[in-house]
Amino acid sequence: MKEGTILRSFDAKDGKKVTLRTPKWGDLDDCLHFINSLVEEKAMIMMNEKQTRDSEIGWISQLLSSVERDKIVALIAEVDGRFVGSCEITPKRGYLAHLGSLGISLLNGYRDIGIGQEMMLEAEKQARRLGVEVVELEVFAANARAIHVYEKVGYKVTGRVPNAVKWNGEYMDSLIMVKRIS
Ligand SMILES: CC(C)(COP(=O)(O)OP(=O)(O)OC[C@H]1O[C@@H](n2cnc3c(N)ncnc32)[C@H](O)[C@@H]1OP(=O)(O)O)[C@@H](O)C(=O)NCCC(=O)NCCS
Repeated sequence: MKEGTILRSFDAKDGKKVTLRTPKWGDLDDCLHFINSLVEEKAMIMMNEKQTRDSEIGWISQLLSSVERDKIVALIAEVDGRFVGSCEITPKRGYLAHLGSLGISLLNGYRDIGIGQEMMLEAEKQARRLGVEVVELEVFAANARAIHVYEKVGYKVTGRVPNAVKWNGEYMDSLIMVKRIS
């Protein structure tokens, strides 16, 4: 899919106009701000190190190339021209090629207004196009909001990895959640 393709627009629960689209080169600085603000707030995501503009250039160029070749689903949520969230589904390879791995995050200030749920459903729709039949994700066991959203859109807990996470010096389990999408 081409960079910057608009997929869908909707109103969030608080009336904000949200557009879901594929990423584009012009997102570079927003991407950097996005990931670094999540790292700074110690959000319960896999990443804990701030990125540099150089590392982000490498990351976004690889992402855009994969999106263009339909090797990955990547969605950006935009509100008032601002990059506020991202959701990806990455298909695995070989005998696992029908299995996709999902990641999602929204900027602080844009949560709890229904954007996450809409992004996941749109990402699943796009992933079906790429031949994905099953989607898995891993979430920190203490991330109650994320787990609630995942269950709401149909994911079920299928596994637990004891002490998988060390968050702020404390061990925590991670949960594996899975949904069949076709
Ligand atoms: C997790 C995340 C992607 C969800 O997206 P979102 O847009 O906030 O989710 P939605 O608005 O669609 O839904 C939020 C739901 O969680 C509920 N919720 C909020 N805080 C909660 C809590 N502490 N415990 C349980 N449910 C909670 C809300 O009431 C809402 O449920 P409802 O629609 O049934 O009322 C987003 O909050 C986020 O980016 N969080 C920080 C980063 C992160 O945790 N990423 C996921 C890593 S696995």
